[in-house]
Amino acid sequence: MTVARSPQGIPPVREDGRQATAGSNRQRRRWDYRAPSWDHEGAAGLEAVIATVLALAQVRPGTVVVDLGAGTGSLSIPLAQQGADVTAVDISPAMLERLAEKAARAGLDRVTCVAAQVENFDLPPMSVDLVVSNYALHHLRDADKEALVRAVARWLRPGGQLIVADMMFGRGVTARDRAIIGSKVTLLARRGPAGWWRLAKNIVRFGLRIRERPVTMETWESYFYGAGFTDLCVIPVVSEAAVVAGSKPAEGAPASPS
Ligand SMILES: C[S@@+](CC[C@H](N)C(=O)[O-])C[C@H]1O[C@@H](n2cnc3c(N)ncnc32)[C@H](O)[C@@H]1O
Repeated sequence: MTVARSPQGIPPVREDGRQATAGSNRQRRRWDYRAPSWDHEGAAGLEAVIATVLALAQVRPGTVVVDLGAGTGSLSIPLAQQGADVTAVDISPAMLERLAEKAARAGLDRVTCVAAQVENFDLPPMSVDLVVSNYALHHLRDADKEALVRAVARWLRPGGQLIVADMMFGRGVTARDRAIIGSKVTLLARRGPAGWWRLAKNIVRFGLRIRERPVTMETWESYFYGAGFTDLCVIPVVSEAAVVAGSKPAEGAPASPS
């Protein structure tokens, strides 16, 4: 993909406005608003999650990578530093502008930024080696998560990898779910009125699945297997954060779950 550079060497953010809706425009504004402070919001344990993704990613110079919900580049930048050609996709142009500035400052000229809703994003079949995503896909509806995993299976070359890092938990059926929910409630309740307000908002958002729609590691596994991925690796990293990775079978290899 060839993209013109600005005089300062900062790659422009390309707009891919396929099927923009009132809902997606609202989402975009919400994330644009958070972009200036995003790098300082740093959730606890994020570094461990990023390190896990980078360790699983088998990147070499020239590996073609797509980062879905890339934000300001927590994965895109280190992957580009390892020599990958990275397409960073995000609904928020403001997030991507920050990512592009960081890439330019680091002298990385193989990062392309595309402002798009991942649900509507598309690529040619077998055009990519690795697709990654960190803490973005829980915002998608479940049917869209599943459809996206299937789309990724089409974009990947045989032997390519999908690595999803995200909050992964359910609504309290398992002991792990209950431990995660309990620790979050305790943490927020201890913060006084501001924490109680946040807790109330989270109960509504997570309870009614408005904007926050995490699913369990097992559900992600089922999406991966359903799309034909094999060699699954499921890692609960810290608290609610987990990583699920899988490979598209190499040509000639059986497509059934391993
Ligand atoms: C929690 S942030 C994570 C950003 C980044 N991956 C990181 O590790 O810091 C979620 C990101 O997903 C993007 N996002 C949310 N919903 C999206 C969607 N439907 N399509 C594309 N990007 C989306 C937001 O703009 C935001 O940058």
